[in-house]
Amino acid sequence: MSQQITNFLADDELNKTQLLALIELAINIKNNPADYNQALAGKSVAMIFEKPSLRTHVSFDMGINKLGGHALYLGQQNGKLGERERVSDYAKNLSCFSDAIVARVFSHDSIQGLAEHASVPVINALCDIYHPCQALADFVTLTEQFGDVSNIKLAYVGDGNNVSNSLMLMAATLGVDFTLVTPVGYEAQASIVEKTKALAAASGARLTITTDINAIGAQDVIYTDTWISMGDEDASKKAEILAHFAPYQVNHDLMKKSEASVVMHCQPAHLEEEITTALFDSEMAVVFQQAENRMWAQNAVLVTLFNK
Ligand code: NVA
Repeated sequence: MSQQITNFLADDELNKTQLLALIELAINIKNNPADYNQALAGKSVAMIFEKPSLRTHVSFDMGINKLGGHALYLGQQNGKLGERERVSDYAKNLSCFSDAIVARVFSHDSIQGLAEHASVPVINALCDIYHPCQALADFVTLTEQFGDVSNIKLAYVGDGNNVSNSLMLMAATLGVDFTLVTPVGYEAQASIVEKTKALAAASGARLTITTDINAIGAQDVIYTDTWISMGDEDASKKAEILAHFAPYQVNHDLMKKSEASVVMHCQPAHLEEEITTALFDSEMAVVFQQAENRMWAQNAVLVTLFNK
C-alpha cells in the first residue's frame, strides 16, 4: 500500500490510496490504542499556534501523549512567525530539537516556508487556505457513519473557506459527490475550484458549485462552518455579513428539504448564525464524533510520517 508521505500540508497532495490508508489507520488506532502507545516513544513534536485553538491544540497534545511522544506548545511568546526571525530560521531551529512540527498559521506561505526549510515533517494544523487535519477527521467520521464513503452525497453550505476547500478537495480525491453552496462574494477561490474539478474528473465524483441555496438538491450530509473565520473578523462588517448569509443558515428546514440525515460542523459553532442550536444539539449532529476523530486522524498522520 503506497502511503509514503513526508509532510501533511494540503489535501490535494495526497492520493486516494494514501487517504484511504490514513482513514483505515485512524480507525484502527481508535479501536486498538494500546497497540500504538509507544509509536512515538522518544519523539518530540513542536506545535506552533498563531491563532486560537481548542480542538486542535488539545487533540494534538493528548493524541501525541497517547502515542508515547511529547508535545510542546509554542504560542506567540516568541513573537509573530516571520517577524522576530525568518520562517526559514524558525524551521531550522525547531528541526534541531523536534522530530516534527505542527503549525496553525495565518498564511499558507508560512506552512510552505516551514516545510521547505525544516528537516523534519510538517503538519498543517489550519492556515488561510486549508484545514487538512479537519477534512481527514471528517472522512473518518463519514466512514464510521456510512461505511463506503464513495456512495454518499456531501454538501457544504456557508462561507467558502479553509474548511470547505479541504473538504471538497478530499471529497473529489475520494470520489465523493460534493455540492458547495456559498453566498455570492464568498465562493471558493478559483485555483481551488480548478484543482477540485481536475480531481473529481479523475475520480468520477460529481461536483456542483452554486450560490443558489434552492439548488442544493438531495444530500446525505450537510456540513457548515463559521461565516467569519479567524483573521477575517471586522466588527464594522459583522451585521452586513450576518444578513447576507442568513438564507444559508443550516437548520431543520434545510435538512428536511435536502433529505439529509447527518449534519457536520468543525466547531467552534456560532449558534443561531450558521447553524441553529436545535440542529446542533440534535441526534442528526455528529459534531463531537468529528472532534474526537481529530485526535485519531492526526495520530494516523503522525504514525505514518514516523514509519516511512
Ligand atoms: N474556518 C474557521 C475554522 C476554525 C476551525 C477558521 O479558520 O476560523
